[in-house]
Parts: sequence; C-alpha cells; structure tokens
Amino acid sequence: MGRKFPKQTIRDVDLRGKTILLRSDYNVPLTKRGQISDDLRIRASLPTLRYLLEQNCKIIIMSHLGRPKGRDPKLSLKVVADHLSKLLGRPVKLLGDCVGESVRQTVRRAPLGSVLMLENLRFYDEEEADDLVFAKSIQRAVRADYFVQDGFAVAHRAHASTHAISLCVPGLAGLLLEKEYITITKAMSSPKRPLVAIIGGAKVSDKISLIKRLIKKADRILIGGAMSNTFLHCRGVNIGKSVFEPGMEKVVSEIYDLAAAKVGVDNVDKFLVLPVDVAVAKEISKDCCRREVSIDHIKDDDMALDIGSQTIEAFTEILADAKTVIWNGPLGYAEIDNFAIGSARAALAIAQNNEATSIVGGGDTADFILKWDGHDGASFTHVSTGGGASMALMAGKKLPGIESLLDSYGMR
Ligand code: 3PG
Repeated sequence: MGRKFPKQTIRDVDLRGKTILLRSDYNVPLTKRGQISDDLRIRASLPTLRYLLEQNCKIIIMSHLGRPKGRDPKLSLKVVADHLSKLLGRPVKLLGDCVGESVRQTVRRAPLGSVLMLENLRFYDEEEADDLVFAKSIQRAVRADYFVQDGFAVAHRAHASTHAISLCVPGLAGLLLEKEYITITKAMSSPKRPLVAIIGGAKVSDKISLIKRLIKKADRILIGGAMSNTFLHCRGVNIGKSVFEPGMEKVVSEIYDLAAAKVGVDNVDKFLVLPVDVAVAKEISKDCCRREVSIDHIKDDDMALDIGSQTIEAFTEILADAKTVIWNGPLGYAEIDNFAIGSARAALAIAQNNEATSIVGGGDTADFILKWDGHDGASFTHVSTGGGASMALMAGKKLPGIESLLDSYGMR
C-alpha cells in the first residue's frame, strides 16, 4: 500500500498475544424493526479483525450506534455483535457495559483469540465530551496493550474513544483507516487528470471547505441535487418551490470569485457546471411523474428533484473523459426512482470509464451507489465508509482520530 501513511499501523508493531482495544465505527443504519439495513461498515472492518486474530490477539471492540440520550436498549450493539459473529465465523461476546468491574472480570478471563464487544459508548455523555476520566475507565476495564483506531467514519470526531483514549494507551491505525486515508488523500493530492468532482446533496454550508479545496484541485466541478438549486437561486434563476439553502448569496459569490481567479471569468461556467435543465414535480411523492424543463421555465409551484436529460448528457460526457472522479452527494432526490435517473446515469458513466479512479464519499452517495451497483460498489475504485469523515479528509482537514495515533517517523 506504499509508505505514505503518517502513523504507525498494526503491521508496524509485533502484536502477537497482545490485548487490543479496537475502535470500529459500527454506526450502521437500522430498520424500524431494529435490523441492520446496510452492513458495509461491518464488512469493511473484517480485514483488521482477521489480521489481529492471526496474531492471536485478545480483541475488545468498541463503537457507538446512533445518538442515544442515555442508555437506550433500542441502540444496543447486540444486533451488530450477532452480525459480526456470523461474518467472522466465531463468537463475538457483547458485554453489558463499556466500563466497570464486570467488564474487567470478563475481559481478564477471556483467552487470547477471543473477540469481545463493549456496549454502545454513547450511552455515556462522557464519550462525546472527549472525557479523559471516562477513557481511563475504559482502559482500566480492558487493560489493553494497544488501542487500534479502525473506525474511519468517526475519525473526524474528537471523542473519548477516538482521542482521549490515545492518551491512555498507545494508538495504532487499523487496515481500513489506512486504506481510506491513502486512497482519499492520494486522489486529492496527486490525481490522474482530468479530475472531475461531482457535488450534490442538500447544503452548501456543510460543504464550503470541500468546494473551496475542489476549486483548487479539480479540473471540472459538476453541481447537482438541492445544492444546484441554491446556486441557481443565487444566480437569479426562479427555482419555484425547490428546496434550497437561504442566505448563501455571499458564499456562492465567493465560490465564483475563487473559480474565476483560477480559470478566468469567461471559463467559470465550464469549470463549475450547473444544470441547464431539471426534472420537476409539484410535490415529493413516489407516484408523481417526472417532467423536464429548462431552468428558465421552472414554474412557481414546481420543485426541481433531479437534473434533466440535457444536463445528464453534458455531465456524462465530461465523466467519460475523466481520469479521476470524486463524488460527494446525489444529483437528485435519489430515494425515488423517477428522480434517481441523474445519479444513476452518472454512476453508469463512471462505471463504464475503465481508465478512471473513482472515489465515492460515504453517507447518502455510498447508500445510493451500493444499491445501484448491486456488486458491493465493485464498479468503483473506492466507496468510503465515512460520510463526514471522508468529506473532512477531502477538504484537507486533519482528523483528530488519526492525529492522535503514534507517528511513523523513522519507521518507514
Ligand atoms: C457517521 O455515521 O458519520 C459516524 O458514525 C459519526 O456519527 P455522528 O455524526 O453521530 O457523530
């Protein structure tokens, strides 16, 4: 995998027979009945677990699930432990807590080669408060030789289990964390060109730093989804009843100034590519049909819910020539098939472009891609397990969950 990762990983240290406190991100989506609806994050954690088992480690996994207010049985990690146990082909014992005497006794008695899981860290407010005393209590209960951070999707959070814990136990990176970091940072810093970015989703304000970095790094930026409604609105287009983010005029004009400074005023519209037509409906409903109009014919009671055919053609042509594609945010209301067409056609153009390295940011985009692809995202180079974390890394930010690990200087 190259030597570009700045931190020590589980391959850099002799871990034979050690006790490992492993931070995974098993914050997986659940159905109303509490079943796992997408297990990407669990499957992605298997290489690190298998490696640690080959080293005959005792593994104590910790994770959060959801955003509970106190102890909430609906957000117990039981369903995750059971699923992981099936995938791993060995027992994964869920403990009733993540701190305390009973955890300590069970961990102490567990033999090497066993896999235990602490109960949801967020049952304690101290987790999100990055509380050092809480982190020390976890370590007192498990007495780990090493802390291994493999929860890439939570590495943008400075929490007790991603940050404070590294002050109590030496921290190493797991294989998923290393792979996510190297793939994403390589695509951003030394991409094969042209680098085409697709930015969709709802809020401009959530993605300002990402967009600014992409203006520096990308050759073209395709904008769709509710994000393009905000851009069109700020440029004086009547977007009817479409969802947009109000108060973004200054931000959007700053984005245009940055783009103009890079490519020249006359080339801005070729560089930041907005839809020229959209698919509209009167309401968001599974039954409403798709009607396409050019952006200057959106009626006052229309809602733009997808990019239109001319835009799809323009976007897919650009994607067919790309050598690197970075995609963050669906291009329309992809939960409804009629308005998932723009995203599906973009996905197809990328999948058919055998020369392109393609990186899909997590969250809604990954959900869409995994459903569309049907082969676990195999049509793409990398489908990230991280939503906020992949966006922060693409934006060039330092992630506390990575920064806190042992440096690899002099090791490689
Ligand atoms: C995620 O799903 O993005 C991570 O698990 C972090 O969860 P959070 O946004 O609730 O901190």
